[in-house]
Amino acid sequence: MASSSKSQILVVGGAGYIGSHTVKQLMAAGHDVVVLDNLVYGHKDILDAALKVEFIEGDIGDRPLLDKIFSTHDIGAVMHFAAYAYVGESVTAPAKYYQNNVVATLSLLDAMVAADVKNFVFSSTCASYGVPQTIPIPEDHPQNPINPYGATKLMVERILQDYGPAYGLKSIIFRYFNAAGADPDGQLGEDHNPETHLIPLTLQAALGIRDNIAIFGTDYPTDDGTCIRDYIHVCDLADAHILGVEHLLKGGESDIFNLGNGLGFSVKQVIESARRVTGKEIIAIEQDRRAGDPPALIGSADKARQKLGWNPQYADIDQIMTHAWQWHQKRHG
Ligand SMILES: NC(=O)c1ccc[n+]([C@@H]2O[C@H](COP(=O)([O-])OP(=O)(O)OC[C@H]3O[C@@H](n4cnc5c(N)ncnc54)[C@H](O)[C@@H]3O)[C@@H](O)[C@H]2O)c1
Repeated sequence: MASSSKSQILVVGGAGYIGSHTVKQLMAAGHDVVVLDNLVYGHKDILDAALKVEFIEGDIGDRPLLDKIFSTHDIGAVMHFAAYAYVGESVTAPAKYYQNNVVATLSLLDAMVAADVKNFVFSSTCASYGVPQTIPIPEDHPQNPINPYGATKLMVERILQDYGPAYGLKSIIFRYFNAAGADPDGQLGEDHNPETHLIPLTLQAALGIRDNIAIFGTDYPTDDGTCIRDYIHVCDLADAHILGVEHLLKGGESDIFNLGNGLGFSVKQVIESARRVTGKEIIAIEQDRRAGDPPALIGSADKARQKLGWNPQYADIDQIMTHAWQWHQKRHG
């Protein structure tokens, strides 16, 4: 199949956590990048301080804006990070999630098809699997999401399966496990508001921004009774995106990959790591289980290693925590 002669990469959601790290690494790898973000959750100040990149403020649901971007730029591929990603909110406000994550994404895909932009990298999620039947979870595991957020991602995966043969739109779908850590240079990091992820919440407790950290459930069938999750360093995620988009730009076929580190860490292990790295006490309060939390979620990323040559650098939880702590002290300390 022919490779793309167009040279720019449009990163939608590039002012967010994973998108901004990917933009930095794309630029370091010599790619010409354009960022589109509506700043609902993104941070332009972080991007501006770290990078000199063309930034367009706008929404992926704004079709005239997309048509203008594609007609005035030389876009060869789109990376799509622009979504809402709060699982709990997706249960209470599903319309918001279907509108942004599915309907707005369709507008982006249709604008790409109209502009003959054929390469697409999509941020999907391990939440599309639902409750795992096997651990580690392979890509061919059944997908039965148990919340609207996971369902929206699965719907886009399904749309991509149909847009490929019909319109020649090639895609790499990445199903991430828990993104964690921060840019080792300290320029970029995680700043979700509200924050729901364990590592930043634990570091907020270390900084005294919150009094304590809650452990939801201590009677799971795991070694220490707390839930186990797979934490993948955000820079390793960014590396995989570069490999994925380059695969497509060189004429490679559509594919689907898990991105995780294949190692699970329990909630208690994560909090212990935060205590080691920060040197702070960090008070943990044990509470009842939350509905819908599977005991363990660990991904197999063997396929990405084998087919894309992905070689994640940061498996150690203390190293992930150290980078996150460096960032949190700078941003919130
Ligand atoms: N953080 C994780 O652990 C994780 C895990 C699995 C999947 N994902 C997925 O990865 C992607 C990025 O996650 P993140 O943690 O960086 O989130 P984030 O909220 O930091 O980044 C998302 C960015 O998209 C922007 N955005 C949202 N809707 C938009 C729209 N309609 N138009 C333009 N911009 C819009 C936001 O302003 C934000 O800058 C999301 O699609 C998320 O579902 C994240």
